[in-house]
Amino acid sequence: MDDASTLIDVKEYPDTEVQKNRVLTLEEWREKWVDGKIGFHQEQGHQLLKKHLDTFLKGKNVLRVFFPLCGKAVEMKWFADRGHCVVGVEISELGIREFFTEQNLSYSEEPIMEIPGAKVFKSSSGNISLYCCNLFDLPRVNIGKFDRIWDRGALVAVNPGDRKCYTDIMLSLTRKGFRYLLAVLSYDPTKHPGSTCNIHCLEKVDVFEERHKSWGIDYIVEKLYLLTEK
Ligand SMILES: C[S@@+](CC[C@H](N)C(=O)[O-])C[C@H]1O[C@@H](n2cnc3c(N)ncnc32)[C@H](O)[C@@H]1O
Repeated sequence: MDDASTLIDVKEYPDTEVQKNRVLTLEEWREKWVDGKIGFHQEQGHQLLKKHLDTFLKGKNVLRVFFPLCGKAVEMKWFADRGHCVVGVEISELGIREFFTEQNLSYSEEPIMEIPGAKVFKSSSGNISLYCCNLFDLPRVNIGKFDRIWDRGALVAVNPGDRKCYTDIMLSLTRKGFRYLLAVLSYDPTKHPGSTCNIHCLEKVDVFEERHKSWGIDYIVEKLYLLTEK
């Protein structure tokens, strides 16, 4: 494993007031989907996950893998194709429908009795279930425990004031021997508002692109953390 700390030398910033107070409503997230403002979506899937997939899976078969705030992440299909059982949660019904359509997967939908107005979408093969609801309502439903959690664009998308609640939910979903892989972005927050586990940084990668210049920032780094039981 690389000594990630030597790969990229970036300045670490503590949470600023502007970040702590950031609030994005569920309606604003739904609107992003309707307006096609989903720059976070990676059509080719997450390359660091692909690279570290074996470390993450640890040679295990038929795992239960949770995707918090899943969007239409193509990585869900990667796991399902390998025989694992995938469960995701996403507030945008449009995003969930786009996932099944773009991955050529037939699916059915049914209401979630415990959460009025919410639905769960299931692949016909039965190994992908996507809950269309607010993540914070999910504890009302018994979705079982998970062996793996892939957290990309989830912890970081949650409003900072909700992060403690978020981590409590995530930890309540883990089962013995779990592995939690977390990808986070790091940049200078003064320019763009934007545990109980072992945490190991697997890699830091420079992901600065032309589009990031409009954020007024001059670097952006993606870090991949592996969280395991103590
Ligand atoms: C930054 S995106 C990341 C999507 C996905 N993980 C990926 O890698 O492409 C965050 C997603 O979470 C959804 N979302 C935000 N807040 C949510 C909440 N409280 N409950 C469920 N979904 C939420 C948004 O609609 C959006 O699709």
